[in-house]
Amino acid sequence: MHQHRRAVITGATSGIGEAIARLLAAEGLAVVMVGRGEERLRQARRRILSAVPDAELSLERADLSLLGDVRALAERLAAGPPPDVVVSNAAVVADAAELTSEGLQRTLAVNHLAPYLLLRSLVPPIGARPARFVVVGASPSALARAPVDLADLSSRRGLGFPPSVRPFVAYGRTKNMNAMFVYALARRLAGSRITVNGVHPGIIKGTGLGRHARGALRVFDRLSQLRPFSPGPDDGADTPVWLATSPRVEGVTGRFFVRREQVPTAPHTTDAERCDRLWAESARLVGLPV
Ligand SMILES: NC(=O)c1ccc[n+]([C@@H]2O[C@H](COP(=O)([O-])OP(=O)(O)OC[C@H]3O[C@@H](n4cnc5c(N)ncnc54)[C@H](OP(=O)(O)O)[C@@H]3O)[C@@H](O)[C@H]2O)c1
Repeated sequence: MHQHRRAVITGATSGIGEAIARLLAAEGLAVVMVGRGEERLRQARRRILSAVPDAELSLERADLSLLGDVRALAERLAAGPPPDVVVSNAAVVADAAELTSEGLQRTLAVNHLAPYLLLRSLVPPIGARPARFVVVGASPSALARAPVDLADLSSRRGLGFPPSVRPFVAYGRTKNMNAMFVYALARRLAGSRITVNGVHPGIIKGTGLGRHARGALRVFDRLSQLRPFSPGPDDGADTPVWLATSPRVEGVTGRFFVRREQVPTAPHTTDAERCDRLWAESARLVGLPV
């Protein structure tokens, strides 16, 4: 049914992104797997092909912490048939002080600026065609206490104590940016046939996200991985895949979902003026017009 539809998934080399890629391939979409390492991409492709032998998979290497790589990726994608589905899923929890070779905070670059630049860059090539953008964020209830400081997008201050929590607070702020970006982009896409929605995949074990945890957070991460009944990557992929393909959400845009249900996010993420300020500052950082 979806024979020739094309889906692009970032962070498709492990965890929830790999599960999204596999499930979309199983639905018959041609899947473009985006990852930063050739070998990890090949390994993920092998795993998916062992489960879905007729999967149509292609690999795109891009380090999403680098704006140059994101721009080049968007150009390569625009050169082919425009995607029908784009799932922005890649994210990191990194030391808040870690900078990329382009001088940006790694957490901000991968988790917010990359989806901002990629999705905005794909709008013109998609043009008047229908398409669905899905942005994988995180738990709106947990993130209510980590508002984005619009004067300090790189989280240079206010990350709290002990130091082991700081990567997670910085990560949480960028995940709030995901929701704000969804709302701001949906408003700008009104009247087009491109929809954009956010999703919290759930607290999912068996992914690589907690690998940078230190101190008490590392112990907590290890314990949560041991819980026998915690949901795995396929559970985490369920709502993103549903948003990407289900007729039930045809035309739905500018919403945030948990377990296939629309949920509110914190007022500091929905405030239109705050979303516009984030939009404008992000445009400046990636070099796009506001
Ligand atoms: N797991 C949870 O409980 C949970 C909860 C809430 C939200 N989420 C969200 O779910 C999404 C997927 O996370 P996950 O748990 O599946 O974690 P994961 O296994 O660590 O997956 C993250 C993916 O992002 C990729 N990535 C990281 N940095 C990159 C870069 N610079 N360039 C390109 N790709 C890069 C990773 O690639 P490599 O293989 O090269 O590292 C990996 O494929 C994230 O957006 C996360 O915020 C997860």
